[in-house]
Amino acid sequence: MRLTILGGGGFRVPLVYGALLSDRGAGRVTEVVLHDPDDGRLHAVARVLAEQASGVPDAPRVTTTTDLDEALRGADFVFSAIRVGGLQGRADDERVALAEGVLGQETVGAGGIAYGLRTVPVAVDIARRVARLAPEAWVINFTNPAGLVTEAMSRHLGDRVIGICDSPVGLGRRVARTLGVRPEDAWIDYVGLNHLGWLRGLRVEGRDELPRLLADRALLGSFEEGRLFGADWLQSLGAIPNEYLHYYYFNREAVRAYQEAEKTRGAFLREQQARFYDEARRADVSALGVWERTRAEREATYMAENRQTAGAGEREAEDLSGGYEKVALALMRAIARDERTTLILNVRNRGTLSVLDADAVVEVPCLVDANGAHPVAAAPLPGHATGLVCAVKAVEREVLAAAGSGSRATAVKAFALHPLVDSVQVARRLLEEYTAVHPGLGYLS
Ligand code: G6P
Ligand code: MN
Repeated sequence: MRLTILGGGGFRVPLVYGALLSDRGAGRVTEVVLHDPDDGRLHAVARVLAEQASGVPDAPRVTTTTDLDEALRGADFVFSAIRVGGLQGRADDERVALAEGVLGQETVGAGGIAYGLRTVPVAVDIARRVARLAPEAWVINFTNPAGLVTEAMSRHLGDRVIGICDSPVGLGRRVARTLGVRPEDAWIDYVGLNHLGWLRGLRVEGRDELPRLLADRALLGSFEEGRLFGADWLQSLGAIPNEYLHYYYFNREAVRAYQEAEKTRGAFLREQQARFYDEARRADVSALGVWERTRAEREATYMAENRQTAGAGEREAEDLSGGYEKVALALMRAIARDERTTLILNVRNRGTLSVLDADAVVEVPCLVDANGAHPVAAAPLPGHATGLVCAVKAVEREVLAAAGSGSRATAVKAFALHPLVDSVQVARRLLEEYTAVHPGLGYLS
């Protein structure tokens, strides 16, 4: 079986390859094709993978290419994990928004819209090529903003594209752990959009254990989201929000902390990653060793400013492993081997959330088998959450419309309608400034 990874020179590729190496089952991936426009990045990552594979019998064969069509032909699965504009683009997304006094973050608010506007046309091009060159392939989309990008691709690939994120799984795992429940024994009632969802229940043998957590302030203070949002707010909500909702519920504090930070996340990672790619190319160093050190630092500093404003302290050791590769592999296995499982994924709504239309991509528990991912019926969200979901989906739709038409007015509308952008004037200036710095927005006229 052949897996093609777009963004194959990306930093998280060794996580995926590591998961493939530990998969010994029949029908596993035997061939990995890494595609990236940057040969140097491909070379560095290929060195890490070669070290990972050393001594492992039957390790999946790795090839690299800078030719997209060649990478897609013959693929059974395509992982798409690209970053249009690179980390410089991410840093610019953050800087421009923060200078306007609004949140600058890669997926939420103004920064996420700018990132979406330059990513959607590229993702659509990929989707069209997959439809033509590998129509039987399944596309697993990691590319952020993951919900929006998955929806853009689904217009060309239907249900053959599935979006994934590690944050709902991480949340479910932490809540289960805090309750002393094995995650595999629990049904996680989580719904929303990508980076905009709520865990409303955790059922074991039909009994909801979440009320026990919400009633216990000590337990609430003992895990990441509990510390980030605080027991009082979680008790008021009666649910545990995805960590990305910190940008909404504590927006003012998050914006201030980001403005005052020495470097934005994107700027920090741009420098950190540049060092990694330089070092990993050198023949006299262990590329895997450099990768592991770089990764540990990246994980430890994730959402550091948010945790700081909340007084949440350090991340826990168990939370540093992400889990993104595990979701991807579980999904691929369930499809390829018809191993039925339940995963929280980004798929077309099909009536799951009745306030959204059938084609809106939502993030909900899905049953997965050889026929793909099927969303499971979910209870409606309360009014406040429905309001946010509808507002943000409307923004996503404006981004998709702007990417399709190239209309600047539509792009301004996307910024202006976002709940975290507080004036149409700000939206106009954001678009001006983003188009001035991003070549990838040159299509807007
Ligand atoms: C989480 C999110 C991803 C995001 C990542 C950013 O895992 O679910 O969507 O890409 O964080 O982490 P970074 O280290 O790049 O800030
Ligand atoms: Mn994510």
